[in-house]
Amino acid sequence: MNAQTHWERIYTEKAPDAVSWYRPHLEKSLSLIEQFAPGKSASIIDVAGGESTLVDDLLARGYENVTVLDISQAAIDVSRRRLGAASDRVSWLVADITRFELGTSEFDVWHDRAVFHFLTEESDRTAYVHQVARSVRRRGHVIVSTFGPEGPMKCSGLDVVRYDAESLHREFGVHFQLLESANELHQTPFGTIQQFLYCHCRLD
Ligand SMILES: C[S@@+](CC[C@H](N)C(=O)[O-])C[C@H]1O[C@@H](n2cnc3c(N)ncnc32)[C@H](O)[C@@H]1O
Repeated sequence: MNAQTHWERIYTEKAPDAVSWYRPHLEKSLSLIEQFAPGKSASIIDVAGGESTLVDDLLARGYENVTVLDISQAAIDVSRRRLGAASDRVSWLVADITRFELGTSEFDVWHDRAVFHFLTEESDRTAYVHQVARSVRRRGHVIVSTFGPEGPMKCSGLDVVRYDAESLHREFGVHFQLLESANELHQTPFGTIQQFLYCHCRLD
């Protein structure tokens, strides 16, 4: 089964709050974006945003230039329906982040919670990093969250790669300056705890 078919099936079969990565709000992500987005006109992309409410919270805070990309049309449809008329203020993209070509220097802030760790093939990680390096402006901010070293080895039935700050930064390379990293203990809707790592880099 290819990635798109897998994720379409997950989002078609499960309610938004019945997946392990669900949180009512992505507090850590939001706080980093608010800290580093240079004004409300900042161009922000939520990569693999799925059905997350980060976009709702960004709009509620007045951000005017938000893009949400996901490989699953079903997930994007759920988010659009949830937002109602406000969804017209968002750019929506259904695409595979390792294959689609985003515009050059298009974004001030890149946010990804929980897709990079699914890229188990080196060629996919390389394509992802090239995508970030091309589409984020110089001095732009890159916030990537993956499972940490003590996190699960699988998610949604798929293998993942777990990272600490050093190994995640190594994937991105010297043009990305690591500004900070932190672990987050995420409580799943089923009451279990998963260790996530957040890394915040600036593109030099
Ligand atoms: C674990 S979920 C995280 C969703 C969201 N970021 C959150 O924190 O709630 C992973 C997401 O990655 C998306 N995804 C998986 N592979 C992808 C790819 N190659 N390109 C774009 N999105 C992808 C899935 O559809 C899913 O929405």
